[in-house]
Amino acid sequence: MTATTVKTSPIEGQKPGTSGLRKKTKVFMEPHFLENFVQSIIDAIGGATGKTLILGGDGRYFNDRAAQVILRMCAANGAKKVIVGTNALLSTPAASNLIRKRDADGGFIMSASHNPGGEFEDFGLKFNGANGGPAPESVTDKIYNRSREITEYRIIETQDADLSKPGAAKMGDMEIEIVNPVTDYADLMETLFDFGAIRDLFAAGFSIRFDAMHAITGPYAREILERRLGAKPGSVVNGQPLPDFGRGHPDPNPVWAKDLMDVMMGPDAPDFGAASDGDGDRNMIVGRSIYVTPSDSLAVLAANAHHAPGYAAGLSGVARSMPTSRAADLVADKAGIGSYETPTGWKFFGNLLDAGRVTLCGEESAGTGSDHVREKDGLWAVLLWLNILAARRQSVAEIMAAHWAEYGRNYYSRHDYEAVPKDRANDLVTRMRGLLNELPGKEFAGLTVGAADDFAYTDPVDGSVSERQGLRIAFTDGSRIVMRLSGTGTEGATLRVYLERYQPANGELNLPVEDALAPVIQAAEEIAKIREYTGKDAPDVTT
Ligand code: G1P
Ligand code: ZN
Repeated sequence: MTATTVKTSPIEGQKPGTSGLRKKTKVFMEPHFLENFVQSIIDAIGGATGKTLILGGDGRYFNDRAAQVILRMCAANGAKKVIVGTNALLSTPAASNLIRKRDADGGFIMSASHNPGGEFEDFGLKFNGANGGPAPESVTDKIYNRSREITEYRIIETQDADLSKPGAAKMGDMEIEIVNPVTDYADLMETLFDFGAIRDLFAAGFSIRFDAMHAITGPYAREILERRLGAKPGSVVNGQPLPDFGRGHPDPNPVWAKDLMDVMMGPDAPDFGAASDGDGDRNMIVGRSIYVTPSDSLAVLAANAHHAPGYAAGLSGVARSMPTSRAADLVADKAGIGSYETPTGWKFFGNLLDAGRVTLCGEESAGTGSDHVREKDGLWAVLLWLNILAARRQSVAEIMAAHWAEYGRNYYSRHDYEAVPKDRANDLVTRMRGLLNELPGKEFAGLTVGAADDFAYTDPVDGSVSERQGLRIAFTDGSRIVMRLSGTGTEGATLRVYLERYQPANGELNLPVEDALAPVIQAAEEIAKIREYTGKDAPDVTT
């Protein structure tokens, strides 16, 4: 079994986006595409010689084949050991945990997150570093640069490794350790939360519906919620991971998790509803007849985390991505702890977490997490909610009402315009950039612009600067519009418009969201001419 060096040449389009490289599966399956990218990663991290790496993915179509290629390339590049989940499965947070727990040098995560999976859908690959978090931009830039000059990759020719059950194997000189993908993660959750209190809650008749959306969290949720915590068998639905996610769109939001929404808004709703995405890092929280926006969820978790043993000592600070509503800032301000605003993408939280500046982080896109790993973590958010519900013995609706009565409410919505021709989307952004300086002082839909800029972030830990991270228009009444183009789409451009309006605690706290936001939505249209540029009368997805 010898390593072969295969001649290759650069392939266009290997620039990692918001979260690794995502492409149509067919593109990933083209000759040399995966191999070029994997070799570029290995080269960018200074080679694999002597390293221990983690490997796993969300089980989507091509996950199994890609895993064997990555193993063969790790072996050919001199890796000491690869620790891989059975059948090459690992949720993203579980992979992050394994990297940290096993002191690995990093890990490959095969996933396109919430993007649909299948032969004609999406595949993805990203690299996480030794802290368990997504490679920072300095590394992803290196990967990209390497992909543009690559001339060869190394691989060994050998039989596939049998990954069907836990155990040990060898590929060339490289060791392979196959582990149960759930156990270490479930054990970690037991250290953070009061499983006894949550068990008591379920024993008292509390009901939950967890929708795994035919994606990776099914086995995790069954083990933790049903087996370890005693939720009624059947509480986990769509729990069998499928390569095409049952042809669904495993993105936990009211649009794609409509079944769950319908149940939770219906007459026989359980006490608590939740869902997670393709690779298990996103979460959706729904109470009986009440949907909790991810921005509000982050704020409520920040205000109540002390109920969980893992956070009893309080939080060091809270971070949110720039487009996320400012609800969490209000909690941080009141608690006298730091609050940080970072660009979109979990990789920007890594330094803050590593430096101990923040304990909790979150994004409006249904990502919430803490310093327990370096990824957002869907089931973790569900368990923290359950711990809080167990401690407070109130309903989700009661907890939300009390929260808004204390802090006021940040009405919030995101409008997505999908598959917009790239040049039209770029034109819209370019025109907006040119307008920013003229906006302050002008009035739109009765709102006066206070400030407008293109968000630039200076990392307070390492001083690195990330520019052009989203257009922000702040109005004098505290309302806000943010616009940016998605960095994860695989087809055309996706324009995201984030809308926010603050009502203080003595204001109107129970308006329908679209009503509360109506002037902000109108102002966005007047300023950005969204209809004209996208050619669409309405957003494709509203969350
Ligand atoms: C989207 C979300 C972002 C999240 C990322 C990865 O990125 O908006 O918050 O970190 O997916 O899950 P976008 O497509 O907006 O670049
Ligand atoms: Zn995800």
